[in-house]
Amino acid sequence: MILLDGKKTAQDIKVEITAEVNKMKANGEKVPHLAALIVGSDGASLTYVGSKVKACELVGFESTLIKMPSTTSETELLKKIKELNQNDDIDGFIVQLPLPEQIDTQKVLMAICPSKDVDGFHPENFGKMALDMTTFIPATPFGILELLERYGVETKGKHTVVIGRSHIVGRPMSILMGRKGFPGNSTVTLTHSYTKNIAQITTQADIIISALGVPNYLKAEMVKDGAVIIDVGITRVPDETTEKGYVITGDVDFENVSKKASYITPVPGGVGPMTIAMLLKNTLLAREQRRVNN
Ligand code: GUN
Repeated sequence: MILLDGKKTAQDIKVEITAEVNKMKANGEKVPHLAALIVGSDGASLTYVGSKVKACELVGFESTLIKMPSTTSETELLKKIKELNQNDDIDGFIVQLPLPEQIDTQKVLMAICPSKDVDGFHPENFGKMALDMTTFIPATPFGILELLERYGVETKGKHTVVIGRSHIVGRPMSILMGRKGFPGNSTVTLTHSYTKNIAQITTQADIIISALGVPNYLKAEMVKDGAVIIDVGITRVPDETTEKGYVITGDVDFENVSKKASYITPVPGGVGPMTIAMLLKNTLLAREQRRVNN
């Protein structure tokens, strides 16, 4: 079994990005600037956004964190997005999801200027992704592709089973794995809450990408020998014996599934750090496109 080490790979990517930023600085060019907008005070979301901002500092990007109260109205949020769209200094920005229920998420994502949509959630960018056009690929799927590529995991002609059809991970992942090229050229099955006999499907999979958010859902008996296992789950499970009061737990029963897997991502230290690294990569791309177009 080979561990797909997202922590180390993300570190390598950050070193590569830092080198790019240093070149920009040496040429007297503007460095990339990422803004992150968060509405409310959900602990996990604040942690993720904090990590994104910290990663920007690490590679030499500029960053701006905008915190809005959980009572923020849709109109107020749309106004803030308009400001970010018009602010020439900002190359890309993200609105951390989920949003409070008084806000229509689709409306918000549609309001982000596609050229600054480094999450790749705007329908224009999502459509481009599905049509193999150059665009921002959502960071978590992009991170998974990067891991598969850097570890040389064969995907061509393989049966990839994706568990979960979220707009952020499952749906884009199912499209990307079926695209022409590497990683891609897979035969993809997208499973979800209405899928019958899921174990019958997962036991036929060469590659399983689980993005369900149910701790320890994928058991050894659901996996065939030699399968590639990508665990996107990051659920906080209460645990009083730890300092934080919780442990981050993946969708995969790692202890038992790892004995059958050819490659597997750990949680933590697998897909999570890759998501942040790829957001930085998208921001670098956004800066480059703005430089070329201005
Ligand atoms: N919430 C969970 N994952 C993500 C992500 O990749 N981007 C944003 N904006 N919100 C998220």
